[in-house]
Amino acid sequence: MEVGLMPRRIPSVRSRPVATRSSETADRRLQTVTAGLKGEVRFNASLKEWTSFRIGGPADILVVPDDVGDLCRLLRQARAAKAPLFVIGGTNVLIRDGGIRGIVVSLSKLKAIVDEPASVLYAEGGVTMPVLLQHSISRSLSGLEWAAGIPGTVAGCVVMNAGTRLGEMKDAVKAVRIVSPSGKVKDVPASAIPFSYRRGRVPRGIVAGVWLQLTPGVKDKIRTIVKDYLRYRKDTQPLTLPNAGCAFKNPKPDAAGQLIETAGLKGFRIGDAQVSEKHANFIVNRGRARADDVMELIAQVRRTVEEKTGVKLELELKVVGEP
Ligand code: EPU
Repeated sequence: MEVGLMPRRIPSVRSRPVATRSSETADRRLQTVTAGLKGEVRFNASLKEWTSFRIGGPADILVVPDDVGDLCRLLRQARAAKAPLFVIGGTNVLIRDGGIRGIVVSLSKLKAIVDEPASVLYAEGGVTMPVLLQHSISRSLSGLEWAAGIPGTVAGCVVMNAGTRLGEMKDAVKAVRIVSPSGKVKDVPASAIPFSYRRGRVPRGIVAGVWLQLTPGVKDKIRTIVKDYLRYRKDTQPLTLPNAGCAFKNPKPDAAGQLIETAGLKGFRIGDAQVSEKHANFIVNRGRARADDVMELIAQVRRTVEEKTGVKLELELKVVGEP
């Protein structure tokens, strides 16, 4: 997953489907949404390069807000224009070949990390987990070791309660800063956020930042745990090919990868989409895979695993956009 340049997906604002591909009126409406923004605005923007899978059609408009103020303005204007918004992280998402109608937002410029008293770190939503983990190691703070190798953003990791068998996001979150759909900043304590397996139900809006409660630790010990874990992932996961992380949730007590392997599907391929030969719960892009190839592969894996093991696999990666 070293290809995961961009954060994990952050579907915080529920995107409403838009009936048809932008008519002129719709285009004008979308353009009013971006008026006066300081950040980057791109029309008909390819999203492929923004995902670790390297798959997906274009966004009508891609916006990269400069700061939280810019994000608030964007949300206010989007609401006034009734334009749908979707926040893209990019590492645990499959964007369909028709792309995403409306506004796609990347938090990649919200990258500040602030050291607060009592072993608390505040990270803006676009900070990636590898950067945050390195920062916590440099401050000898323990509590994020489980995240070694997760490429997503801190915001994405809250929304999906990202985790590994060493721990999960909810163990570290103290509070979350949300920009509401009306463009207001709201701070919400972790106790008010119901977390479950791969899900953090934050209030509607976009996660602009997260406070993490860590504990003082011994730098070398933290570093060793992280190094060992990274080596384990490198040894067991197809990190050199474009992928979107684990495709399916683990249907406890089983591991999805084990079930898919047992069903004889390692290496199974449709077009350039393939069930990884290294770890069966990863789908890899062998070159020019289309989202449709991945969708078909997912359907066949599910069908075969259910036939052979009786287990219904549930998707972990999020499928967004239009066919
Ligand atoms: N296994 C197989 N065949 C395979 C892959 C795995 O038999 O092709 C077996 C392994 O031998 C092991 C078991 O399945 O007995 C579990 O495998 P692994 O240790 O690789 O962990 P996982 O449950 O498949 C989880 C997370 C990963 C995370 C790893 C390492 C989920 C869905 N996946 O995978 O997270 O990197 O642990 O901590 O929770 C992700 O969420 O995107 C992700 C990749």
